[in-house]
Amino acid sequence: MPDNHNTEAALAYHNATKHSYGVRAHPHFLDFANQPLPFKIYPSLDPSRLPGEMRQTGVAALSAVAGSIAVETTASPDLKAVAQLLYLSAGITRQRKYSGGEIYFRAAACTGALYEVELYLVSGDLADLPAGVYHFAPAEFGLRQLRAGDYRGVLLEATGGETSIAHAPLTIVCTCTYWRNAWKYQARTYRHFGWDNGTLLANLLAVATALGLPAKVVCGFMDATVNRLLDVDSQREVAFSLVALGHVSPIPPQSPAKISPLGLETVPLSRNEVDYPLMREMHAASSLHSTEEVAAWRGLTPLASFPPPAGSIFSLQPPSDVEMPRDPIEQVILRRGSSRRFERTPISLSQLSTILDRASRGVPADFLDPLGAQLNHLYLIVHAVEGLEPGAYVFHRDRGLLEFLKPGNFRDQAGYLGLEQQLPADAAVDIFFLADLRPILQRFGNRGYRAVQLEAGILGGKLYLAAYAQRLGATGLTFYDDDVIRFFSPHAENKSAIFLVAVGNSAKRQA
Ligand SMILES: Cc1cc2nc3c(=O)[nH]c(=O)nc-3n(C[C@H](O)[C@H](O)[C@H](O)COP(=O)(O)O)c2cc1C
Repeated sequence: MPDNHNTEAALAYHNATKHSYGVRAHPHFLDFANQPLPFKIYPSLDPSRLPGEMRQTGVAALSAVAGSIAVETTASPDLKAVAQLLYLSAGITRQRKYSGGEIYFRAAACTGALYEVELYLVSGDLADLPAGVYHFAPAEFGLRQLRAGDYRGVLLEATGGETSIAHAPLTIVCTCTYWRNAWKYQARTYRHFGWDNGTLLANLLAVATALGLPAKVVCGFMDATVNRLLDVDSQREVAFSLVALGHVSPIPPQSPAKISPLGLETVPLSRNEVDYPLMREMHAASSLHSTEEVAAWRGLTPLASFPPPAGSIFSLQPPSDVEMPRDPIEQVILRRGSSRRFERTPISLSQLSTILDRASRGVPADFLDPLGAQLNHLYLIVHAVEGLEPGAYVFHRDRGLLEFLKPGNFRDQAGYLGLEQQLPADAAVDIFFLADLRPILQRFGNRGYRAVQLEAGILGGKLYLAAYAQRLGATGLTFYDDDVIRFFSPHAENKSAIFLVAVGNSAKRQA
């Protein structure tokens, strides 16, 4: 059995899935006749429709993105709140016809619009929703009941008694389906699991906050137990993260429950599936098998040493709360869509400050302890931000300032670093996520690799929302790994490139 603490596995996966110059010279052939279905379909189960009429929270997106609800609050979602959470994180918000069919765009950004993340509910009795295990069906905007009854104790057992799970009337389990994303991205898909699950969680956490629900992301769980509860075929689909939602009296610790297989038929995603063993090996090497391993997962986050600023510094200048744009979270999520082209026009330092400040105030997660700990560091290439000289910067989150690393007009280099795409060259600023993998893997084992990718996706999703809340545009991007590190070195020496988000004024103006 692969060992989580043999961390060579994560490093080997990371190195084997780096993009480097030349990758575009050998494009992967996309077999459109074999393109996977974007939805998981259980033909033998009828979905029950979720309420379509959305309550408006009216909570400003910039507040919802930045905040979280203290766990002392007693709160439990009703069915309408469940519908809001699901719609605004994974619902179909737009659709567009193209020559090969129709793309159903969802509330959160996702690599290639392939939507490999599925959501399941594990709940006690909620108002208008009986206790059960349910699969969310975005196509019908409904729920399919997989198991009737209260199975929260199974999650409590799987997480070794995690307090937020014990108190949660509802936990949403996010799974990722290999083939749906690997059809295009091959073995690099395992990184995408973290990114795409993360952008979805950024929306989910913001909506939970707007609804007054405490929420906590939980990544420490025994994989096989959760997969068994959902009855997924773990060669194809695996649980990646849990989100404990709400706060009620704790369920008592349970003795291990017997979970019977359901044997439910699902529609094959494609005519045939291509296997990329690297990603399944990465998953196996980062799986937890015992209560002891889960208990060891929780606890303090390693804080990578980060040298104090040595160069010129610029303080963030976020506007006061009264000057802050107040568009509500639901409006901003529905307005969001990745920029397909940026104007080469500047944004203000106040707008950039708002984005960095609001997105980085802390993610409630079991691997980020205390709240506010962060695994990724943000490095910026500024092209057009009023009040900042163009060049490379690093963000000192704890001090609320940017350190100037080197001056220069780096539009061409940024285009190159972002896999020779036009978007990072035209943006006003490119925000790179870099992490020092060694201490993270030393502390968390290979599973730390899941955590660092997931955190980047969550922070990236928050950047998207904070940009769109100010009527700016944003897009996630992929990159040439080692060239990014070289560009930001010597400051970035020994770090790894994890993610990239470009921000600017979209060429097509937002409605
Ligand atoms: C992690 C991540 C990486 C992405 N990488 C790219 C990219 O390299 N190039 C690009 O044009 N779009 C990229 N996108 C944008 C997606 O194509 C876009 O999210 C998807 O088509 C869904 O559309 P929407 O974001 O407008 O809803 C990326 C998005 C994410 C979340």
